[in-house]
Amino acid sequence: MNNAKWITAPVDCGQAGVVFQKKINLKKAVKRATLNATAMGLYRAYIDGRDVTDALLMPGWTVYRKRVQYQSYDVTDMLRDGATLALECAQGWAVGRFNHRIHYSADRVSAAALLEVEYEDGSKEEILTDKTWQAYTSEVLFAEIYDGETQDRTAPPKPLGDAVEITVNTARVPQEGEWVKEAERFAPFRLIITPKGERVLDFGQNIAGYVEFKIKAKRGERIVISHAEVLDKDGNFYTGNYRSAKNLITYVCSGEEDVFKPRFSFQGFRYIRLDEYPDVPIDFDAIRAIAIHSEMTRTGHFVCGNEKINQLYHNIIWSNMNNYIDVPTDCPQRDERLGWTGDAQVFCRTAAMSFDVKRFFKKWLSDVALDQYEDGSVPPFVPLIGVDENMPISAAWADSACVCPWEIYLAYGDKALLAEHYPMMKRWVDYLRTAGPEEYLWLGGDHFGDWLALDDGEDSFVGATSNDLIATAYYARSTDLLVKAGKVLGEDMTAYEALYDKIVARFREYFMKDGMPLEKCPVVRDVVVGNPPRPNPFCGMTQTALVIILAYNLCEEKDRARIAEKLVDMIEERGYMTTGFIGTPHILHVLTENGYNDLAYRLLFREESPSWLYSVNHGATTIWEHWNSLKEDGGFWSTGMNSFNHYWCGVVYEWIFDTCVGIRLDESAPAYLHSEIAPHPNKNLGFADASIDTAYGTLRVKWKYRDGMIHYEITLPAGTTATLTLPSGYREELSGGTYFFTERE
Ligand code: BGC
Repeated sequence: MNNAKWITAPVDCGQAGVVFQKKINLKKAVKRATLNATAMGLYRAYIDGRDVTDALLMPGWTVYRKRVQYQSYDVTDMLRDGATLALECAQGWAVGRFNHRIHYSADRVSAAALLEVEYEDGSKEEILTDKTWQAYTSEVLFAEIYDGETQDRTAPPKPLGDAVEITVNTARVPQEGEWVKEAERFAPFRLIITPKGERVLDFGQNIAGYVEFKIKAKRGERIVISHAEVLDKDGNFYTGNYRSAKNLITYVCSGEEDVFKPRFSFQGFRYIRLDEYPDVPIDFDAIRAIAIHSEMTRTGHFVCGNEKINQLYHNIIWSNMNNYIDVPTDCPQRDERLGWTGDAQVFCRTAAMSFDVKRFFKKWLSDVALDQYEDGSVPPFVPLIGVDENMPISAAWADSACVCPWEIYLAYGDKALLAEHYPMMKRWVDYLRTAGPEEYLWLGGDHFGDWLALDDGEDSFVGATSNDLIATAYYARSTDLLVKAGKVLGEDMTAYEALYDKIVARFREYFMKDGMPLEKCPVVRDVVVGNPPRPNPFCGMTQTALVIILAYNLCEEKDRARIAEKLVDMIEERGYMTTGFIGTPHILHVLTENGYNDLAYRLLFREESPSWLYSVNHGATTIWEHWNSLKEDGGFWSTGMNSFNHYWCGVVYEWIFDTCVGIRLDESAPAYLHSEIAPHPNKNLGFADASIDTAYGTLRVKWKYRDGMIHYEITLPAGTTATLTLPSGYREELSGGTYFFTERE
């Protein structure tokens, strides 16, 4: 593949697609033919006009300045003497507008390919991209990830001349991640005429993907559609939350039967508006919304006796799929769609409870390692855009370097993957030792804080918890995970164990007094990147601070009960939880673990904002960015940052799976080789049933209330074991098989 030349068009095609093609002359009978292809930008490969694959958005998104994936396709059955091999390319992530940059990786689209032919007689031939390839215009007149696409079936391909060979400085590596593919398909279920008179189709589910049309219209007639996740309070089409992303699709019909769908873009939407439509009836049977995502095997399932919680789980699954499109993104619709490291680390354990995400994370973690800076720090999103900019090195975002490899190891037990990323983990912790003015505290950095927490004003982007407290807590957490990883790998971790002890000791001295966090932490500096100064930013006594002190074992054992009590008082006093990215993943866990399981359930069942069921009650089909993205009065949180497809607070499924149903990984025998099974049944749920397909087989736990009793059914795959603890305190060691237990309510 390395001998293939990078080729580009002889003229600048701007935002239009370009086709590179070559006629293939075969000398003899072909035994096997393999096409390897890549691009800077996106590409699709065709032989005689037929797609060589049903995969999408190739070559995928990596740290392009260091590596780009190439894909290999078996094309033996498609190849014939005289066939035309074509690569159609457009801008995608690498070229064009992405995030706040233009052409962040390359200033023009280019491609490279190698066709390997093995003849029946054993001889071989290689056909490589070079200047003998011809460039043509494409019927894709415009394509851009955020802004959408224009395809014109009346535009014949025009020759642009010989391809031009260029140099692209990056390594070409075989595909490492999952393929992105089309998955679920949705028919529109209603046509709405809005108060403004707009024609809007509703697909009933918020997705990332696109709409396919089959249509026979007059030559030159156009379909123009806009996308939206929600309607506004008057029932009109609403695109304000896309910010600058246009998500606009234009198709020009050929006069014959056409099938249209985007080739180089995707949209996040539930509704489309028909801005222009040919003079033919709107045929629901010929219009489909198609979800696209990385092709991860579904491994986990959950159902219970409460329909609202079932809908919540549905929404979590959908936001997960919609945001795992080659890279774990924050959202799939606005002018962002970035691999935010904080979002990825908060949610990766939850994802692994429902999907096999090993390969997906293997690829992304390789990119995190490549984007790690020389000094060991880690950027806020990967792949990084703006290498030359001063990016914030934020606690909980950069800590993904330690959290994600550890979580993926726990879920799949793959020591090789952990070993591969151990150096990244270590470099991150080593960076932290020098990040602040003193070694055992992380003070004064640029952070995102307790992002989206509610305790510094309802509409603030960030909560009141001291950045320094969060940063030092994460410093301890990452060091702890590094120690655990090192021990698994047989490293001598004495020095890092000592470091961990010192961080915890300094944390207690600096942020706590008499076993409790300080009301006000010392002020070093308050920077919340890109946001106005917070009114009240240095608090130690917040729900989030108490949660992470308990979750990361930062207090002395003797103070644990008092801290938990204080947390409960604060929740009760406020009436709800105020936690953001930092506290939310752990709040229900620390409540249950410290004797407040009833309160954990009350928070789960709460229906007013802020709560998980508030969005369910307001018709959500995915997880919202804010607890109240859609306000009680039907208004919106803000235009500036209001995604309706942001998985972070879907992290609640972690508690539902490992505490409510009660299937918990054992760190010393990962991948569910040994599990801790400790259900926490609740009568309001009636029953709960969760399963996970592990490498050993399916592990499933069910409980059900009936006739004053709680019935349990537990199935363990052969070769695995579990320690069962029932609410009565009854314990038993179990091994592969199905077990039934009954206890009184
Ligand atoms: C994203 C978040 C992300 C954050 C950083 C936002 O714009 O959508 O999910 O983590 O920026 O604070």
